[in-house]
Amino acid sequence: MKIGRRLQQIEQMVEKQYDHIWDCCCDHGLLGFNLLKAQVAQTIHFVDIVPDLLVQIEKTLQRHWLGAEQTWLVHCLDAGKLPIRQFSIKPETDKHLIIIAGIGGELLIELMQSLLPVCANYHVEFILCPVHHNYKLRQFLIDNQLGLLNECLVFENSRSYEILHLSPASSQPLSAVGSIMWDLTDPLHLNYLDKTIKHYQRIAKNPNAHVKSIINQYQQLR
Ligand SMILES: C[S@@+](CC[C@H](N)C(=O)[O-])C[C@H]1O[C@@H](n2cnc3c(N)ncnc32)[C@H](O)[C@@H]1O
Repeated sequence: MKIGRRLQQIEQMVEKQYDHIWDCCCDHGLLGFNLLKAQVAQTIHFVDIVPDLLVQIEKTLQRHWLGAEQTWLVHCLDAGKLPIRQFSIKPETDKHLIIIAGIGGELLIELMQSLLPVCANYHVEFILCPVHHNYKLRQFLIDNQLGLLNECLVFENSRSYEILHLSPASSQPLSAVGSIMWDLTDPLHLNYLDKTIKHYQRIAKNPNAHVKSIINQYQQLR
């Protein structure tokens, strides 16, 4: 199934095998279908809060992937309430990857607030791709001791997306403004950086907004 550049990039960032991949906020399940095809996990979990979406996904899975060697499961639930414990039969070795993409950064923070205490007892990595509020999300993740495995900037339909691959076990620090994703010889990257700085400069016009240090951090990248 054809997916856009953003989801393609997320798929490419899944570079090893996991026992469980959780495609959270999966919508029509496109990413999960591609991950099933790529055979990168023993079980792919499709998670969304809207029941009708999961009915359709289950029909597609039954039509195309019934009897396949890997398993799949659909879960109609709030992505903040993933049953990680239930799917960690061997907690010392079972590897999970939780993917959350295509939702606002503030909702993503709320979901991570619920997930992190549960995930702390297991081997869990995250791939996160918010719409907006990247700085706020990164700051939250830094405060919660997540380390960087990889990060990427991707452009699709005139929009820019930051994709983060994170693990509590990684010793590589995450930066609030991004680090290894930047290629400032690329005009698209430069344009995104300038737009981000201008966005915070507009916010700074409000005397109650304390964003000077954020602007400085982005300007230092230049
Ligand atoms: C725009 S789609 C994102 C689809 C796909 N992940 C992507 O990146 O293209 C957002 C999806 O998030 C789901 N969603 C919103 N809040 C949720 C929550 N708390 N738990 C699970 N799914 C949620 C919506 O039902 C919707 O299908």
